[in-house]
Amino acid sequence: MAVEKRLRANPGGEIAPSEVFGRDSLIQKLWRILERQSLVLSAERRMGKTCVVKKMTKEAPENYLTVYRDLEGVRSPIEFVETIFQDVERHLSSFKRLAEGTRQLVKELGGTEIGGVIKLPEIAAPDWKRLLMKTLEDLVKQQESKDRKVIFFWDEMPLMLYNIKKRQSEEAAMEVLDTLRSLRQMFPQLRMVFTGSIGLHNVLTSLKRVGYANAPTNDMKMEDVPPLLLADAENLAYRLLDGENILTTNRHATAKAIATSVDGIPYFVHHIIDQLVMQNSLASEEKVEEIVNNYLIDPHDPWHLRYYRERIDVYYPDADKPLALGILDLLAIAEQPLIFEDLFNQLQNHIVNPDKEQTRNVLTLLECDHYIIRQIDGGLGFRFPLIQRYWRLHRGLV
Ligand SMILES: Nc1ncnc2c1ncn2[C@@H]1O[C@H](COP(=O)(O)OP(=O)(O)OP(=O)(O)O)[C@@H](O)[C@H]1O
Ligand SMILES: [Mg+2]
Repeated sequence: MAVEKRLRANPGGEIAPSEVFGRDSLIQKLWRILERQSLVLSAERRMGKTCVVKKMTKEAPENYLTVYRDLEGVRSPIEFVETIFQDVERHLSSFKRLAEGTRQLVKELGGTEIGGVIKLPEIAAPDWKRLLMKTLEDLVKQQESKDRKVIFFWDEMPLMLYNIKKRQSEEAAMEVLDTLRSLRQMFPQLRMVFTGSIGLHNVLTSLKRVGYANAPTNDMKMEDVPPLLLADAENLAYRLLDGENILTTNRHATAKAIATSVDGIPYFVHHIIDQLVMQNSLASEEKVEEIVNNYLIDPHDPWHLRYYRERIDVYYPDADKPLALGILDLLAIAEQPLIFEDLFNQLQNHIVNPDKEQTRNVLTLLECDHYIIRQIDGGLGFRFPLIQRYWRLHRGLV
Protein backbone atom coordinates (compact mmCIF):
# COMPACT_ATOMS: atom_id res chain seq x y z
CA MET A 1 0.00 0.00 0.00
CA ALA A 2 1.31 3.46 -0.91
CA VAL A 3 2.25 5.55 2.07
CA GLU A 4 1.20 9.20 1.89
CA LYS A 5 4.20 11.48 2.03
CA ARG A 6 4.53 13.60 5.17
CA LEU A 7 3.74 17.18 4.36
CA ARG A 8 6.25 19.65 5.75
CA ALA A 9 6.00 23.41 6.20
CA ASN A 10 7.80 25.29 3.44
CA PRO A 11 6.70 28.91 3.40
CA GLY A 12 7.87 30.59 0.21
CA GLY A 13 9.90 27.60 -0.98
CA GLU A 14 9.45 25.48 -4.06
CA ILE A 15 6.79 22.83 -3.45
CA ALA A 16 6.05 19.69 -5.44
CA PRO A 17 2.95 19.69 -7.68
CA SER A 18 1.38 17.07 -5.38
CA GLU A 19 1.74 19.48 -2.45
CA VAL A 20 -0.28 22.19 -4.16
CA PHE A 21 -3.64 22.16 -2.44
CA GLY A 22 -7.04 23.28 -3.64
CA ARG A 23 -6.14 24.38 -7.16
CA ASP A 24 -7.52 21.52 -9.24
CA SER A 25 -10.70 23.20 -10.42
CA LEU A 26 -8.90 26.48 -11.12
CA ILE A 27 -6.29 24.62 -13.17
CA GLN A 28 -8.96 22.75 -15.08
CA LYS A 29 -10.63 26.02 -15.93
CA LEU A 30 -7.31 27.51 -17.07
CA TRP A 31 -6.63 24.57 -19.40
CA ARG A 32 -10.06 25.06 -20.90
CA ILE A 33 -9.30 28.69 -21.59
CA LEU A 34 -5.89 27.82 -23.02
CA GLU A 35 -7.50 25.61 -25.63
CA ARG A 36 -8.81 28.83 -27.16
CA GLN A 37 -6.66 31.75 -26.10
CA SER A 38 -3.82 33.12 -24.01
CA LEU A 39 -4.10 34.20 -20.39
CA VAL A 40 -3.19 36.98 -17.97
CA LEU A 41 -3.19 35.61 -14.42
CA SER A 42 -3.15 38.19 -11.71
CA ALA A 43 -3.28 37.90 -7.96
CA GLU A 44 -2.12 39.45 -4.78
CA ARG A 45 1.44 38.69 -3.73
CA ARG A 46 2.06 35.26 -2.27
CA MET A 47 -1.36 33.96 -3.24
CA GLY A 48 0.21 30.99 -4.98
CA LYS A 49 0.44 32.03 -8.66
CA THR A 50 3.84 30.46 -9.22
CA CYS A 51 2.69 27.20 -7.61
CA VAL A 52 -0.27 27.12 -10.00
CA VAL A 53 1.74 27.76 -13.16
CA LYS A 54 4.58 25.44 -12.22
CA LYS A 55 2.11 22.68 -11.51
CA MET A 56 0.50 23.33 -14.90
CA THR A 57 3.89 23.26 -16.60
CA LYS A 58 4.76 19.94 -15.05
CA GLU A 59 1.39 18.28 -15.54
CA ALA A 60 0.44 19.61 -18.95
CA PRO A 61 -1.62 17.44 -21.32
CA GLU A 62 0.39 15.60 -23.97
CA ASN A 63 -0.55 17.94 -26.79
CA TYR A 64 1.22 20.94 -25.24
CA LEU A 65 4.85 21.90 -25.06
CA THR A 66 5.19 24.08 -21.97
CA VAL A 67 7.97 26.46 -21.07
CA TYR A 68 8.15 28.18 -17.67
CA ARG A 69 10.36 31.21 -17.06
CA ASP A 70 10.59 33.76 -14.26
CA LEU A 71 11.26 37.14 -15.87
CA GLU A 72 11.87 39.14 -12.71
CA GLY A 73 15.58 39.70 -13.46
CA VAL A 74 15.15 40.55 -17.15
CA ARG A 75 15.85 44.19 -17.86
CA SER A 76 15.75 44.76 -21.61
CA PRO A 77 13.95 43.44 -24.69
CA ILE A 78 17.21 41.91 -25.90
CA GLU A 79 17.69 39.99 -22.67
CA PHE A 80 14.12 38.77 -23.04
CA VAL A 81 14.82 37.47 -26.54
CA GLU A 82 18.04 35.82 -25.33
CA THR A 83 16.06 34.10 -22.59
CA ILE A 84 13.46 32.81 -25.00
CA PHE A 85 16.11 31.51 -27.35
CA GLN A 86 17.77 29.68 -24.48
CA ASP A 87 14.48 28.13 -23.35
CA VAL A 88 13.62 27.04 -26.84
CA GLU A 89 17.02 25.36 -27.18
CA ARG A 90 16.73 23.66 -23.81
CA HIS A 91 13.35 22.20 -24.56
CA LEU A 92 14.10 20.82 -27.96
CA SER A 93 17.07 18.61 -28.54
CA SER A 94 16.12 18.14 -32.18
CA PHE A 95 15.67 21.86 -32.59
CA LYS A 96 19.28 22.58 -33.44
CA ARG A 97 18.92 21.35 -36.98
CA LEU A 98 15.76 23.32 -37.55
CA ALA A 99 17.04 26.53 -36.09
CA GLU A 100 19.74 27.17 -38.66
CA GLY A 101 17.85 30.20 -39.94
CA THR A 102 17.73 31.67 -36.46
CA ARG A 103 21.40 30.97 -35.90
CA GLN A 104 22.29 32.71 -39.12
CA LEU A 105 20.31 35.73 -38.01
CA VAL A 106 22.08 35.81 -34.62
CA LYS A 107 25.41 35.94 -36.46
CA GLU A 108 24.24 38.63 -38.83
CA LEU A 109 23.20 40.78 -35.89
CA GLY A 110 26.65 40.47 -34.34
CA GLY A 111 25.59 38.05 -31.61
CA THR A 112 27.45 35.04 -30.28
CA GLU A 113 26.10 31.65 -29.34
CA ILE A 114 27.76 29.13 -27.08
CA GLY A 115 25.96 25.99 -26.05
CA GLY A 116 22.46 27.31 -26.62
CA VAL A 117 23.08 30.62 -24.83
CA ILE A 118 23.10 33.61 -27.10
CA LYS A 119 24.45 37.03 -26.29
CA LEU A 120 23.42 39.94 -28.38
CA PRO A 121 24.87 43.42 -28.62
CA GLU A 122 22.55 46.40 -28.15
CA ILE A 123 20.53 45.94 -31.31
CA ALA A 124 17.69 48.10 -32.52
CA ALA A 125 14.08 47.13 -31.90
CA PRO A 126 13.33 45.96 -35.46
CA ASP A 127 16.20 43.47 -35.14
CA TRP A 128 15.21 41.93 -31.82
CA LYS A 129 11.67 41.67 -33.10
CA ARG A 130 12.87 39.86 -36.21
CA LEU A 131 14.90 37.46 -34.10
CA LEU A 132 12.04 36.80 -31.72
CA MET A 133 9.67 36.08 -34.57
CA LYS A 134 12.12 33.75 -36.24
CA THR A 135 12.83 31.81 -33.05
CA LEU A 136 9.16 31.34 -32.26
CA GLU A 137 8.22 30.56 -35.82
CA ASP A 138 10.76 27.73 -35.93
CA LEU A 139 9.49 26.31 -32.65
CA VAL A 140 5.78 26.62 -33.35
CA LYS A 141 6.08 25.11 -36.81
CA GLN A 142 8.11 22.20 -35.54
CA GLN A 143 5.54 21.49 -32.82
CA GLU A 144 2.64 21.96 -35.19
CA SER A 145 3.92 19.10 -37.27
CA LYS A 146 3.46 16.94 -34.16
CA ASP A 147 0.00 18.40 -33.47
CA ARG A 148 1.20 20.20 -30.42
CA LYS A 149 0.59 23.69 -29.14
CA VAL A 150 3.28 25.72 -27.42
CA ILE A 151 2.66 27.59 -24.17
CA PHE A 152 5.07 30.04 -22.61
CA PHE A 153 4.39 30.62 -18.92
CA TRP A 154 6.05 33.96 -18.29
CA ASP A 155 6.05 34.64 -14.57
CA GLU A 156 6.49 38.24 -13.36
CA MET A 157 5.95 39.65 -16.85
CA PRO A 158 4.75 43.04 -15.47
CA LEU A 159 7.93 43.33 -13.38
CA MET A 160 10.06 42.78 -16.47
CA LEU A 161 8.08 45.47 -18.27
CA TYR A 162 8.52 47.77 -15.29
CA ASN A 163 12.29 47.18 -15.42
CA ILE A 164 12.34 47.92 -19.15
CA LYS A 165 10.31 51.04 -18.60
CA LYS A 166 12.75 52.27 -15.93
CA ARG A 167 15.88 51.47 -17.94
CA GLN A 168 14.54 52.50 -21.31
CA SER A 169 11.04 53.92 -21.65
CA GLU A 170 7.39 53.12 -21.41
CA GLU A 171 7.34 52.92 -25.21
CA ALA A 172 10.02 50.20 -25.15
CA ALA A 173 7.93 48.18 -22.68
CA MET A 174 4.87 48.61 -24.87
CA GLU A 175 6.77 47.55 -27.92
CA VAL A 176 7.46 44.21 -26.22
CA LEU A 177 3.77 43.75 -25.47
CA ASP A 178 2.75 44.78 -28.97
CA THR A 179 5.23 42.36 -30.50
CA LEU A 180 3.95 39.51 -28.35
CA ARG A 181 0.45 40.34 -29.42
CA SER A 182 1.32 40.21 -33.08
CA LEU A 183 3.06 36.88 -32.50
CA ARG A 184 -0.13 35.50 -30.99
CA GLN A 185 -2.02 36.66 -34.03
CA MET A 186 0.54 35.27 -36.41
CA PHE A 187 0.68 31.82 -34.79
CA PRO A 188 -2.69 30.50 -33.66
CA GLN A 189 -0.97 27.50 -32.03
CA LEU A 190 1.05 29.71 -29.70
CA ARG A 191 -0.20 30.50 -26.19
CA MET A 192 1.18 32.82 -23.57
CA VAL A 193 0.43 33.02 -19.86
CA PHE A 194 1.51 36.20 -18.11
CA THR A 195 1.58 36.08 -14.31
CA GLY A 196 2.50 38.80 -11.94
CA SER A 197 1.81 40.37 -8.61
CA ILE A 198 1.60 43.85 -10.05
CA GLY A 199 -0.90 44.57 -12.77
CA LEU A 200 -0.03 45.77 -16.26
CA HIS A 201 -1.98 48.91 -15.36
CA ASN A 202 0.74 49.67 -12.79
CA VAL A 203 3.34 49.67 -15.55
CA LEU A 204 1.66 51.37 -18.46
CA THR A 205 0.64 54.36 -16.40
CA SER A 206 1.14 57.29 -18.70
CA LEU A 207 -0.72 55.65 -21.55
CA LYS A 208 -3.45 54.28 -19.36
CA ARG A 209 -5.42 57.46 -19.62
CA VAL A 210 -5.67 57.25 -23.36
CA GLY A 211 -7.02 53.74 -23.07
CA TYR A 212 -3.86 51.94 -24.09
CA ALA A 213 -3.17 49.87 -20.97
CA ASN A 214 -5.31 46.90 -21.94
CA ALA A 215 -5.01 47.11 -25.69
CA PRO A 216 -1.93 44.89 -26.12
CA THR A 217 -3.51 42.15 -24.02
CA ASN A 218 -7.18 42.45 -24.88
CA ASP A 219 -7.05 39.23 -26.86
CA MET A 220 -6.00 37.42 -23.65
CA LYS A 221 -8.34 36.20 -20.93
CA MET A 222 -7.86 37.81 -17.53
CA GLU A 223 -8.14 35.49 -14.56
CA ASP A 224 -7.62 35.98 -10.87
CA VAL A 225 -5.90 33.52 -8.55
CA PRO A 226 -7.97 33.80 -5.38
CA PRO A 227 -7.05 32.51 -1.90
CA LEU A 228 -7.86 28.86 -1.24
CA LEU A 229 -11.41 27.95 -0.33
CA LEU A 230 -11.50 27.75 3.46
CA ALA A 231 -12.11 24.00 3.30
CA ASP A 232 -8.96 23.54 1.21
CA ALA A 233 -6.87 25.83 3.42
CA GLU A 234 -8.14 23.90 6.43
CA ASN A 235 -7.20 20.64 4.79
CA LEU A 236 -3.72 22.02 4.05
CA ALA A 237 -3.33 23.14 7.67
CA TYR A 238 -4.56 19.77 8.92
CA ARG A 239 -2.12 17.85 6.74
CA LEU A 240 0.74 20.10 7.81
CA LEU A 241 -0.11 19.71 11.51
CA ASP A 242 -0.07 16.00 10.94
CA GLY A 243 3.06 15.96 8.79
CA GLU A 244 5.01 18.04 11.28
CA ASN A 245 3.76 15.94 14.25
CA ILE A 246 2.43 18.99 16.05
CA LEU A 247 0.52 18.27 19.25
CA THR A 248 -2.85 20.00 19.37
CA THR A 249 -5.74 20.37 21.79
CA ASN A 250 -7.97 19.53 18.83
CA ARG A 251 -6.46 19.09 15.37
CA HIS A 252 -9.61 19.94 13.39
CA ALA A 253 -10.40 23.05 15.40
CA THR A 254 -6.77 24.23 15.20
CA ALA A 255 -6.64 23.66 11.43
CA LYS A 256 -9.85 25.61 11.02
CA ALA A 257 -8.53 28.47 13.15
CA ILE A 258 -5.35 28.62 11.03
CA ALA A 259 -7.26 28.70 7.73
CA THR A 260 -9.73 31.34 8.90
CA SER A 261 -7.20 33.61 10.57
CA VAL A 262 -5.29 34.07 7.30
CA ASP A 263 -8.28 34.28 4.95
CA GLY A 264 -7.28 31.03 3.22
CA ILE A 265 -3.93 32.35 1.95
CA PRO A 266 -1.71 29.24 1.73
CA TYR A 267 1.61 31.04 2.24
CA PHE A 268 0.55 32.24 5.69
CA VAL A 269 -0.78 28.77 6.56
CA HIS A 270 2.73 27.40 5.96
CA HIS A 271 4.18 30.20 8.08
CA ILE A 272 1.94 29.53 11.07
CA ILE A 273 2.80 25.85 10.98
CA ASP A 274 6.49 26.68 10.78
CA GLN A 275 6.12 28.89 13.85
CA LEU A 276 4.26 26.14 15.73
CA VAL A 277 7.11 23.75 14.97
CA MET A 278 9.69 26.23 16.19
CA GLN A 279 7.81 27.06 19.38
CA ASN A 280 7.31 23.37 20.08
CA SER A 281 4.30 23.98 22.32
CA LEU A 282 0.76 22.67 22.32
CA ALA A 283 -1.18 24.09 19.36
CA SER A 284 -4.67 25.46 19.91
CA GLU A 285 -7.01 28.12 18.54
CA GLU A 286 -5.63 30.58 21.10
CA LYS A 287 -2.05 29.79 20.18
CA VAL A 288 -2.83 30.40 16.50
CA GLU A 289 -4.35 33.78 17.34
CA GLU A 290 -1.28 34.71 19.34
CA ILE A 291 1.04 33.77 16.46
CA VAL A 292 -0.93 35.77 13.90
CA ASN A 293 -1.00 38.79 16.23
CA ASN A 294 2.74 38.63 16.68
CA TYR A 295 3.32 38.46 12.95
CA LEU A 296 1.12 41.50 12.38
CA ILE A 297 3.07 43.69 14.79
CA ASP A 298 6.56 42.30 14.22
CA PRO A 299 8.70 45.31 13.14
CA HIS A 300 10.82 42.97 10.98
CA ASP A 301 7.68 42.18 9.03
CA PRO A 302 8.37 38.53 8.16
CA TRP A 303 5.12 38.33 6.16
CA HIS A 304 6.19 41.30 4.01
CA LEU A 305 2.94 43.08 4.69
CA ARG A 306 4.58 46.47 4.37
CA TYR A 307 4.41 45.80 0.67
CA TYR A 308 0.74 46.83 0.73
CA ARG A 309 1.76 50.30 1.89
CA GLU A 310 4.91 50.60 -0.22
CA ARG A 311 3.26 49.57 -3.46
CA ILE A 312 1.25 52.79 -3.37
CA ASP A 313 4.43 54.86 -3.18
CA VAL A 314 6.12 52.93 -5.97
CA TYR A 315 3.36 52.45 -8.52
CA TYR A 316 0.65 55.03 -7.90
CA PRO A 317 0.80 58.42 -9.60
CA ASP A 318 1.70 61.17 -7.09
CA ALA A 319 -1.65 62.87 -7.53
CA ASP A 320 -3.49 59.68 -6.52
CA LYS A 321 -1.44 58.75 -3.46
CA PRO A 322 -3.20 60.89 -0.79
CA LEU A 323 -6.58 59.72 -2.05
CA ALA A 324 -5.55 56.05 -2.05
CA LEU A 325 -4.26 56.33 1.52
CA GLY A 326 -7.31 58.30 2.64
CA ILE A 327 -9.70 55.72 1.19
CA LEU A 328 -7.82 52.78 2.72
CA ASP A 329 -7.60 54.48 6.12
CA LEU A 330 -11.35 55.04 6.17
CA LEU A 331 -12.24 51.56 4.97
CA ALA A 332 -9.79 50.02 7.46
CA ILE A 333 -11.76 51.37 10.40
CA ALA A 334 -15.23 50.97 8.90
CA GLU A 335 -17.14 48.18 10.59
CA GLN A 336 -19.33 47.62 7.54
CA PRO A 337 -18.73 48.12 3.83
CA LEU A 338 -19.36 51.76 2.84
CA ILE A 339 -21.27 52.94 -0.19
CA PHE A 340 -19.49 55.48 -2.39
CA GLU A 341 -21.40 58.56 -1.21
CA ASP A 342 -20.71 57.80 2.47
CA LEU A 343 -17.07 57.13 1.75
CA PHE A 344 -16.75 60.34 -0.25
CA ASN A 345 -18.44 62.40 2.49
CA GLN A 346 -16.05 61.04 5.09
CA LEU A 347 -13.12 61.63 2.78
CA GLN A 348 -13.91 65.34 2.77
CA ASN A 349 -12.95 65.49 6.46
CA HIS A 350 -9.52 64.09 5.62
CA ILE A 351 -8.56 65.64 2.31
CA VAL A 352 -9.08 69.19 1.08
CA ASN A 353 -11.56 69.28 -1.79
CA PRO A 354 -11.24 65.75 -3.10
CA ASP A 355 -12.36 65.35 -6.68
CA LYS A 356 -15.22 62.93 -7.13
CA GLU A 357 -14.16 61.48 -10.47
CA GLN A 358 -10.58 61.08 -9.36
CA THR A 359 -11.82 59.29 -6.24
CA ARG A 360 -13.80 56.88 -8.42
CA ASN A 361 -10.72 56.21 -10.54
CA VAL A 362 -8.54 55.56 -7.52
CA LEU A 363 -11.15 53.17 -6.16
CA THR A 364 -10.95 51.21 -9.40
CA LEU A 365 -7.17 51.06 -9.10
CA LEU A 366 -7.46 49.80 -5.53
CA GLU A 367 -9.90 47.15 -6.71
CA CYS A 368 -7.56 46.05 -9.51
CA ASP A 369 -4.75 45.83 -6.97
CA HIS A 370 -6.85 43.58 -4.70
CA TYR A 371 -6.97 46.00 -1.76
CA ILE A 372 -10.71 46.43 -1.84
CA ILE A 373 -13.77 44.68 -3.10
CA ARG A 374 -17.04 46.13 -4.32
CA GLN A 375 -20.16 44.22 -3.46
CA ILE A 376 -23.17 44.00 -5.70
CA ASP A 377 -25.11 46.46 -3.48
CA GLY A 378 -22.26 48.98 -3.97
CA GLY A 379 -20.65 48.38 -0.57
CA LEU A 380 -16.88 48.97 -0.56
CA GLY A 381 -14.53 47.28 1.89
CA PHE A 382 -11.14 45.63 2.29
CA ARG A 383 -10.90 42.40 0.35
CA PHE A 384 -8.98 40.55 3.05
CA PRO A 385 -9.86 41.01 6.75
CA LEU A 386 -6.24 40.09 7.62
CA ILE A 387 -4.88 42.97 5.53
CA GLN A 388 -7.52 45.31 6.92
CA ARG A 389 -6.29 44.49 10.44
CA TYR A 390 -2.70 44.96 9.39
CA TRP A 391 -3.54 48.32 7.83
CA ARG A 392 -5.27 49.52 11.01
CA LEU A 393 -2.33 48.47 13.16
CA HIS A 394 0.38 49.69 10.84
CA ARG A 395 -1.25 53.10 10.31
CA GLY A 396 -2.05 53.54 14.00
CA LEU A 397 -5.78 53.67 13.42
CA VAL A 398 -6.79 51.44 16.32
N1 LIG B 1 -1.98 25.74 -3.40
C1 LIG B 1 -1.05 25.72 -2.45
N2 LIG B 1 -0.96 24.70 -1.56
C2 LIG B 1 -0.01 24.69 -0.61
N3 LIG B 1 0.86 25.69 -0.41
C3 LIG B 1 0.84 26.73 -1.26
C4 LIG B 1 -0.10 26.80 -2.31
N4 LIG B 1 0.09 27.94 -2.97
C5 LIG B 1 1.09 28.58 -2.37
N5 LIG B 1 1.56 27.86 -1.34
C6 LIG B 1 2.62 28.27 -0.38
O1 LIG B 1 2.80 29.68 -0.56
C7 LIG B 1 4.14 29.96 -1.00
C8 LIG B 1 4.10 31.06 -2.03
O2 LIG B 1 3.48 30.61 -3.20
P1 LIG B 1 3.87 31.18 -4.65
O3 LIG B 1 5.33 31.41 -4.69
O4 LIG B 1 3.23 30.31 -5.64
O5 LIG B 1 3.11 32.57 -4.59
P2 LIG B 1 3.14 33.74 -5.65
O6 LIG B 1 1.73 34.23 -5.75
O7 LIG B 1 3.81 33.32 -6.88
O8 LIG B 1 4.04 34.80 -4.85
P3 LIG B 1 4.84 36.10 -5.41
O9 LIG B 1 3.81 37.16 -5.56
O10 LIG B 1 5.80 36.41 -4.32
O11 LIG B 1 5.47 35.68 -6.70
C9 LIG B 1 4.68 28.62 -1.49
O12 LIG B 1 6.08 28.57 -1.32
C10 LIG B 1 3.97 27.63 -0.60
O13 LIG B 1 4.63 27.58 0.67
MG1 LIG C 1 5.50 34.05 -7.88
